[in-house]
Amino acid sequence: MASIHQRGDVIVSVGSKSNEKGDGVPLRVARRPRKFGSISRQRLSVWLLFIGAVFFMYMSFFSVKVHFHGEKEYGMSSLFSVPKRGLEGYVTQSSSATREKENGTSSLFSVPKRGLEGYINQRTSSPTSRKEDVISSVFNVPKRGIESNIPPKRRSPKHYPCDIELAKSVEYILEPKDYLNITHFEVDYVEKEEESLLASPYKLRFAGHQTLEARERSFIAINQSLHCGFVKGPNGMGSTGFDLDEKDQKFMKSCVVVVSSCIFGSSDFLRRPTSKLISEFSKTHVCFVMFLDEETLQKLLSEGNVPDDRGFIGLWRIVVVRNLPYEDMRRTGKVPKLLAHRLFPSSRYSIWLDSKMRLNADPLLILEYFLWRTKSEYAISKHYDRQCVWEEVLQNKRLNKYNHTAIDEQFQFYQSDGLTKFNSSDPHIPLPSYVPEGSLIIRAHTPMSNLFSCLWFNEVDRFTSRDQLSFAYTFLKLKQSNPDKPFFLNMFKAVTEWNGVWKFMISLL
Ligand SMILES: *[C@@H]1O[C@H](CO)[C@@H](O)[C@H](O)[C@H]1NC(C)=O
Ligand SMILES: *[C@@H]1O[C@H](CO)[C@@H](O)[C@H](O)[C@H]1NC(C)=O
Ligand SMILES: *[C@@H]1O[C@H](CO)[C@@H](O)[C@H](O)[C@H]1NC(C)=O
Ligand SMILES: *[C@@H]1O[C@H](CO)[C@@H](O)[C@H](O)[C@H]1NC(C)=O
Ligand SMILES: *[C@@H]1O[C@H](CO)[C@@H](O)[C@H](O)[C@H]1NC(C)=O
Repeated sequence: MASIHQRGDVIVSVGSKSNEKGDGVPLRVARRPRKFGSISRQRLSVWLLFIGAVFFMYMSFFSVKVHFHGEKEYGMSSLFSVPKRGLEGYVTQSSSATREKENGTSSLFSVPKRGLEGYINQRTSSPTSRKEDVISSVFNVPKRGIESNIPPKRRSPKHYPCDIELAKSVEYILEPKDYLNITHFEVDYVEKEEESLLASPYKLRFAGHQTLEARERSFIAINQSLHCGFVKGPNGMGSTGFDLDEKDQKFMKSCVVVVSSCIFGSSDFLRRPTSKLISEFSKTHVCFVMFLDEETLQKLLSEGNVPDDRGFIGLWRIVVVRNLPYEDMRRTGKVPKLLAHRLFPSSRYSIWLDSKMRLNADPLLILEYFLWRTKSEYAISKHYDRQCVWEEVLQNKRLNKYNHTAIDEQFQFYQSDGLTKFNSSDPHIPLPSYVPEGSLIIRAHTPMSNLFSCLWFNEVDRFTSRDQLSFAYTFLKLKQSNPDKPFFLNMFKAVTEWNGVWKFMISLL
């Protein structure tokens, strides 16, 4: 048990506000009181008792491990039998597309043209690498199935932290070449609104004015021009919002692997990634970008969190967003959350973290665990509690999360378009849950994954900003519109409640 404790850790942790200034790992309950010496014996023993009790609870809690669902449970296994071309093709495609841009960019990676595979290989020749002989095959980490990691007696049907086994070190991982047979097509994005489509009175919108017919077409995975935010007015009519400095844009263009988060409207604290858990390699090769609006930046400055002259606070590269596209800060937050592939045009992988979470693991290990190992191009956690959108709608209304009329409109639209209730006894259910918990999203920027992100964003723009309401509909409609084209989505289980505070935890074994 103790060894589980010692080796256990969390990839991301949710801080309650009170714990913000703390060490970021909320379960380190037995934090040493500062004035330990001055505490009387009586109080000391009370403390010890308390700590013991908490430790006991912690242990009994953590020893219950959750069976991590395999592909089969998702009904995904059937998806793995389809097309032929590997990631390779996509990689070359995307790197040639970005090649022109790379010249002027201060590239983070010294070998960006070779793609991720190239840069990871490159480590073998770097002086710090000691594993030269090992990094020749795709996975040097023992390829034990997730299934077999977990002794059957420890499985529990309840929602407790998932113990997962990340690779031991980034030294051992390599981006697999053909880890999945992705669907190939070319998407370009609507950059400028056509004048004829603009409604009068004339009003520019960040997401443009997509007609319902265009929306319907957009779900088909073919070469097409797609609405996906960042739509400008016709003929230099100016910006529709989400304006970034040129310097920041240049930086963002250089990113190949991105971890990003945002705080708008001063709604949260800045939580820095736990530096000691992140490899030197990732520190120099992964972009950690925190999007802030000016109000939040002012608050940070007033608290003494001042970006250095390169624009960093700790590992976070601070990017200030001006001219926010929506009045609703939550909706504005969906831009960096869902559209990483647009903000970082050269990127091939991205990890999204809600600002309430702190990154506690190396991003490359996260990619390896959630995407490469499970052969997925999109990974998102399922909700800890709810599986059915019907329940989610009720809950949203109960907590007054959003204008009820708008929720009803969206929901009725979805039902009339064929959204059905989640049926857990249906063996062919296409998703393990219809309700996501989107605080952590891990994506490979493949065409299908990018298409899904754009479609999901368009729903959030058209209807309510509650993205949990549109996730399953978007996924199911995408799947239905492309029966022969797989989309490898990994919906994992990772959330739990503990001590009255919602925690999002993925424990490492
Ligand atoms: C980009 O690099 C190529 C080859 O090194 C060079 O010919 C070209 O002029 C460069 N373009 C820019 C915009 O710097
Ligand atoms: C991709 O397709 C090829 C050819 O059908 C197959 O040999 C390979 O195993 C597939 N790869 C994956 C990851 O499914
Ligand atoms: C889609 O675009 C790609 C690249 O431009 C092209 O090779 C392919 O033939 C196109 N597919 C269709 C169906 O037009
Ligand atoms: C709620 O949404 C409906 C329909 O979208 C809209 O007509 C109404 O004005 C909204 N109410 C409020 C208070 O925003
Ligand atoms: C759920 O799925 C099972 C198995 O396919 C089916 O028998 C049952 O009728 C379904 N329930 C509902 C409410 O659709």
